[in-house]
Amino acid sequence: AAPDTVSPTGAPTGAPTGVNAQQDAFLTTSQGVRLHDTDHSLKAGERGPTLLQDHHLREKIMHFDHERIPERVVHARGAGAHGEFVGYGNAAKICKAGFLREGATTPVFVRFSTVLGSRGSADTVRDTRGFATKFYTDEGTFDLVGNNIPVFFIQDGIKFPDVIHAAKPHPDREIPQAQSAHDTFWDFVSLHTEATHHVLWNMSDRGIPRSYRTMEGFGVHTFRLVNDAGETSLVKFHWKPKLGVHSLVWEEAQLLNGFDPDFHRRDLYDAIESGAHPRWELGLQVFPDTPDQTFEGIDLLDATKIVPEELAPVRPVGLLTLTRNPTNFFAEVEQVAFHTGHLVPGIDVTDDPLLHARLFSYLDTQLTRLGGPNFTQIPINRPHAPVNDMLRDGFHQHAVHAGVAPYKPNSLDGGCPFHADAADKAFIEVPQRIAEATKVRRAAASFDDHFTQPRLFFRSLSPLEQDHVIRAFTFELAKCYEKTIKERELLVLARVDARLCAEVAAGLGLPVPEAQDLRDVPTSPALSQFGHTWPVDG
Ligand code: HEM
Repeated sequence: AAPDTVSPTGAPTGAPTGVNAQQDAFLTTSQGVRLHDTDHSLKAGERGPTLLQDHHLREKIMHFDHERIPERVVHARGAGAHGEFVGYGNAAKICKAGFLREGATTPVFVRFSTVLGSRGSADTVRDTRGFATKFYTDEGTFDLVGNNIPVFFIQDGIKFPDVIHAAKPHPDREIPQAQSAHDTFWDFVSLHTEATHHVLWNMSDRGIPRSYRTMEGFGVHTFRLVNDAGETSLVKFHWKPKLGVHSLVWEEAQLLNGFDPDFHRRDLYDAIESGAHPRWELGLQVFPDTPDQTFEGIDLLDATKIVPEELAPVRPVGLLTLTRNPTNFFAEVEQVAFHTGHLVPGIDVTDDPLLHARLFSYLDTQLTRLGGPNFTQIPINRPHAPVNDMLRDGFHQHAVHAGVAPYKPNSLDGGCPFHADAADKAFIEVPQRIAEATKVRRAAASFDDHFTQPRLFFRSLSPLEQDHVIRAFTFELAKCYEKTIKERELLVLARVDARLCAEVAAGLGLPVPEAQDLRDVPTSPALSQFGHTWPVDG
């Protein structure tokens, strides 16, 4: 485990973590001076005014006044747990990352979350769930920052502020807290049809999981793996829960929001305490690393598309087990900082434009949320691999760095000689060839098909599951004030599936859109060839 009481450079950091003030013999000030009374302020007489000279009162109140930090701008509500990941070894052919080797055991911390609600919102709302895993590997920290839905609302990260502004509570009323049942959300997704696939998953039973323990997780983007020989493959990451995938039904979710808003948090905590340790297999869908980065005609850089498992099976490569609850929610769950750029040798990014914005966003937001650039020194964020960087000073610097020359090259301080084997163990970006390109602000034409996969998804569901989707759309859209927004979303649904549209229209008491209202729908020729599995016509 990471040392608790020393900085990354070995210097003492002051109060050890795990300190239990309640059980020590004496209370002290923050300076270690023993107190004899923390219950009364210093006053001029028992019934007189409080004295400004009461430095203990001032320290106690000052610290309390600053206990809160900003909540995450998204995924504010969450719960987390510690555990371990054991590699099966079968991924070594395609990935050199040490934590995937056979029997390699790596400590992990996982945080599950909802996306839209604030820290105090209820657990069982209809929403996407975050599934973020920090692997403290010997080669540095790897974060897999995924969701329980395999696709995303947008294809380009520049739209993230738009989708979140639309989905968060209305700016004037701060309503609703945590659900998508409101005008701005449906206004945006009915105009921005690349969101359709994600919205279909949200409105399905996947939007109301039974438990964090029964959720799948997805890395969503396509990543690039590298093996010892330097050969590359493209992959999508999947978490498959050993308990299977289970959801609530809508009425249960609604009741639980009232009866026990902490339902998922409590379920995770209680399961781990009772020894029912939740487990997931990490799986990979593997695709050849071709220059066009497509597979069977599906653009692997488009985060609104899946690759059906029938075309690329998910191969299990390791087992995650959550074994220990946090000791302190703030220190661990609140302060943990995930980042898609935390990569280890053997795992690299692709040119997915959604992923690239995330590579900027996580560090940037944590700078504010965690109060400056030194949040990697917070215990939950410390790598378990040795750290030897030349990052210095800044707010909340805990390390006492020795030496005089934190720069390179230098001739004064050892100069950080380059070891012959450093290149082997280092993270080296894949020397990917970038086609001769012209600077543009637009997406590839392959990003244009917004309806084929939502249709495949809807038609892959059982009749009961389809009925749940219809009822979810009807419930959520019924909450919109603007009739034009409902009508526009019906046009979107008509392009997904005629029965879905007709039944939601009936539920809302609105006419079914006429055929001439529908604009031409681009369909993916590559996917329609699998029409025998999922009918895409009519
Ligand atoms: C937080 C997943 C897209 C910005 C999170 C968290 C997860 C997540 C799981 C919570 C992490 C935690 O538990 O602490 C995803 C997935 C995405 C996606 C799967 C798409 C595939 C984006 C995009 C942006 C973004 C496009 C911005 C351009 C953020 C920010 C946070 C966050 C700012 C808060 C982080 C913090 O305060 O530590 N995301 N996200 N995300 N995400 Fe994303």
